[in-house]
Amino acid sequence: MSTFTTGTAPGALPGLGHMWPLLRDPTAFLASLPAHGDLVEIRLGRERAYVPCHPELLRHVLTDDRTFDKGGAYYDRARAMAGNGVATCPHRDHRRQRRLMQPAFHHDQLKAYAAVMEHETAALAASWGDSEVVDAYPVLYALALRTVTRTLFAAHVDEAVVEEIRQSFETAFSGFFRQMFMPPAVRRLPLPSNVRHRRALRHLHGTVEGIVTAYRRDGAGRGDLLSVLFSSQDTEGGDGLTDAEIQDQVVTVLAAGTETVAATLTWALQLLSEHPEQQRRLQAEADAVLGGRPARWDDIARLPFAARVVNETVRLHPPGWLFTRVTSAETELAGRRLPPDTTVVIAPTTVHRRTGAYARPLEFDPDRWLADRAAALPRGAFLGFGAGARKCIGDDFGVAECVLVLATIAAGRTVHSVPGADTRPVPLAAFHRPRRLPLRLDRRGPR
Ligand code: HEM
Repeated sequence: MSTFTTGTAPGALPGLGHMWPLLRDPTAFLASLPAHGDLVEIRLGRERAYVPCHPELLRHVLTDDRTFDKGGAYYDRARAMAGNGVATCPHRDHRRQRRLMQPAFHHDQLKAYAAVMEHETAALAASWGDSEVVDAYPVLYALALRTVTRTLFAAHVDEAVVEEIRQSFETAFSGFFRQMFMPPAVRRLPLPSNVRHRRALRHLHGTVEGIVTAYRRDGAGRGDLLSVLFSSQDTEGGDGLTDAEIQDQVVTVLAAGTETVAATLTWALQLLSEHPEQQRRLQAEADAVLGGRPARWDDIARLPFAARVVNETVRLHPPGWLFTRVTSAETELAGRRLPPDTTVVIAPTTVHRRTGAYARPLEFDPDRWLADRAAALPRGAFLGFGAGARKCIGDDFGVAECVLVLATIAAGRTVHSVPGADTRPVPLAAFHRPRRLPLRLDRRGPR
């Protein structure tokens, strides 16, 4: 059993805690924490919270989901958005929900969803001019949202509905961390930002309710994600998802499956534009497998370098950059006694950029995910998709989508950075992404 050290992060301000470094440069702040111990005390506003910075500790917190339950500032806010869905529900409700959701993420289902990914990606790539300049995140966000929306509801979903969902999420998510740091009394005040946030949530729930009701009326069975969720209601035992739960799962999948994928793709393109030698390797793989055409589901297994690029991107820039747990009973962590209701902060960056876990942790090195090198990493060194029973249910979906998009882009384009980028993370964004990343996508000549 390892011996762990504990410490306190310096620089907390009265009332604000570590809000300022988290706002100004979250990656640097989080990466600095291991220097103070394996378990570090920080302040979220006025609240005391503990950040595990050692792979074993972080893994322990994630896998003991009975003691370290969903809750704390992040998940309390997430519940306002996604209700009691599979990502936000407490341990006591989770196993049943996960069991009922799992068939929707079965390998055969993913294969069916991939048709949507292929179609949307190929259409986007075909829409670009010879030297298209794009602001990467909004373009990739729109792609990921259309993909996840059409995966959920295969039948035609109006462009207007996609746009409504986009706008509601934008407003709801943009206030997410601000709300999280606010004392509850301030959150209830009729401030314009609070009113906007509440209105966006109401709008989002109304839109999803409308879609689910219409879907039920028109009949399910289209092979899409929602039809799998509805089919749980017909199984023996009668413990299928209720209509209210299905609505929560729809908001959950929309929320968890869009920004994460868009942020990963955005950071991946940024890293590739800065590392031309790695971009050339990706292009060579895409050329050999695709011969210039867009990628398809069956190609994924033959695109291992693209998959390593995705993993390395999530290591360096985990989209889920900060979320919380709350202790359901008194427990001990790193030799420290934590009373019930203590907030524990999960920030994969604390481990992903830790020298003890990785050699040259700041380097973009996709080959560290070659099987023999990855096997030598300490347990718990990679937590970009979480761990244990609450591990990401959409990890294969997300990685497949990122591989398809990256390989399709590499097959037809060379990505260059252009002036005007601001790659500092958006302050307190719900998911970690750059502020602005214009890229030039030059059509590749004949090979
Ligand atoms: C690169 C893309 C993605 C990343 C980095 C990512 C990351 C994560 C992380 C870190 C968690 C664990 C959160 C926690 O322990 O509190 C998680 C959970 C989850 N993710 Fe993902 N995710 C990605 C894509 C997706 C996609 C595409 C979907 C759905 C289509 C999805 C759906 C979910 C759900 C439903 C959960 C909750 C699982 C549970 O508690 O049982 N994710 N994700």
